[in-house]
Amino acid sequence: MHALFLSLLATIPFGTQLAGAHRTTSRSRHRSVARNYVNKTYELQDFYQAEDFFEEWSFFTSADPTGGNVNYLSMQDATSQGIAYVDDCDNSTVLAVDSTSTVPVGGNRNSVRITSNKNYTGGLFILDAAAMPVGCGTWPSFWTVGAHWPTSGEIDIVEGVNNQNSNQMTLHSGTSNACALTPQVNNTMFTGTALGTNCYSTATANAGCGISDPNPTSFGYGFNDADGGVFALLWDSENGMSIWHFARADIPEDITNRTPTPANWSTPAGSWSAQTCDIAANFYQHSLVIDTTVCGGWAGGSAYSKSGCPGTCSEIVANATNFADAKWVINSVAVYQ
Ligand SMILES: *[C@@H]1O[C@H](CO)[C@@H](O)[C@H](O)[C@H]1NC(C)=O
Ligand SMILES: *[C@@H]1O[C@H](CO)[C@@H](O)[C@H](O)[C@H]1NC(C)=O
Ligand SMILES: *[C@@H]1O[C@H](CO)[C@@H](O)[C@H](O)[C@H]1NC(C)=O
Ligand SMILES: *[C@@H]1O[C@H](CO)[C@@H](O)[C@H](O)[C@H]1NC(C)=O
Ligand SMILES: *[C@@H]1O[C@H](CO)[C@@H](O)[C@H](O)[C@H]1NC(C)=O
Ligand SMILES: *[C@@H]1O[C@H](CO)[C@@H](O)[C@H](O)[C@H]1NC(C)=O
Repeated sequence: MHALFLSLLATIPFGTQLAGAHRTTSRSRHRSVARNYVNKTYELQDFYQAEDFFEEWSFFTSADPTGGNVNYLSMQDATSQGIAYVDDCDNSTVLAVDSTSTVPVGGNRNSVRITSNKNYTGGLFILDAAAMPVGCGTWPSFWTVGAHWPTSGEIDIVEGVNNQNSNQMTLHSGTSNACALTPQVNNTMFTGTALGTNCYSTATANAGCGISDPNPTSFGYGFNDADGGVFALLWDSENGMSIWHFARADIPEDITNRTPTPANWSTPAGSWSAQTCDIAANFYQHSLVIDTTVCGGWAGGSAYSKSGCPGTCSEIVANATNFADAKWVINSVAVYQ
């Protein structure tokens, strides 16, 4: 989320993998490939749903560190303004960008950024969302981060800007311990496209080691058109990090049943092996974060002008209608160990 990517979006090539077909072939054909995860069923540790997001997470109210045109509201202000609430019909939690107020060109629009009070060093993290924020100028993210950025690292599980048509996942490591993406052979480790191999990030060079998911249901309008879905991060300090996305219709039964067994899933969208990254030294004590910023270091500037969105990002901030669907609709966040 901190990353100030300049040109990594928009030109992402599309893959043509069918989830079902991939699932049946990947394990049988590549059984000998060393995976970044072990064959075990994970057990539920924390399950965040509905009011839990208001009770167990904190509302971040400082200026946006990524330079976005937003005012992040306190829980009290966000709920009274109706941009953070629980939908009693289905227990989903809505975290929205304000889409009714008049904001001047280049002004700040109200939004929400929440952080889990608990922190984690490893585990299986599963976000189930019915919808994610869409619209020109938006920059939504579900990510994890430790103290003293970038020392204890950052994991961007879901991230993208403007009309980006698939998800971008990124690790940011911040110590001198080497952390790099292992080059894969014949797409056996992950289905995505590597965008950078060195995960080391600093305040001025923070692209990290990203992987672009080729699946158009993994982000933005494509995600919402598929009725949303789940993202799963498996953070295993001994073996590596892996991220899966499943569109609503493809969610494995063991996730629905809350007995997730990643070894039984299809090849992940992104994976970073512990063979080339000291996971334990670079990633620890992370809180979970969900937010939506507007414009700023990535969604604005040159990325905006290349996005196909109208005018400038400063101008779009002033268009309330543009933000009508700039909202997270979160069914749950589950943490397993
Ligand atoms: C919402 O969650 C509460 C607490 O778990 C539960 O009692 C209620 O039945 C749920 N409502 C719906 C519509 O699922
Ligand atoms: C993580 O949680 C532990 C246990 O509550 C706490 O002692 C520690 O300070 C927390 N670390 C961070 C970075 O918040
Ligand atoms: C990669 O795929 C090509 C074409 O199928 C094959 O010839 C080659 O042996 C494979 N390499 C490895 C390391 O599996
Ligand atoms: C995982 O282990 C179980 C039981 O030991 C076995 O039946 C299953 O085939 C294994 N799955 C994979 C993907 O290796
Ligand atoms: C994993 O897949 C194997 C083989 O299909 C199956 O026997 C086993 O029950 C599955 N495990 C879980 C926990 O779903
Ligand atoms: C505001 O945004 C909406 C939705 O993107 C668009 O249809 C409309 O044309 C925009 N209005 C102006 C004045 O730019």
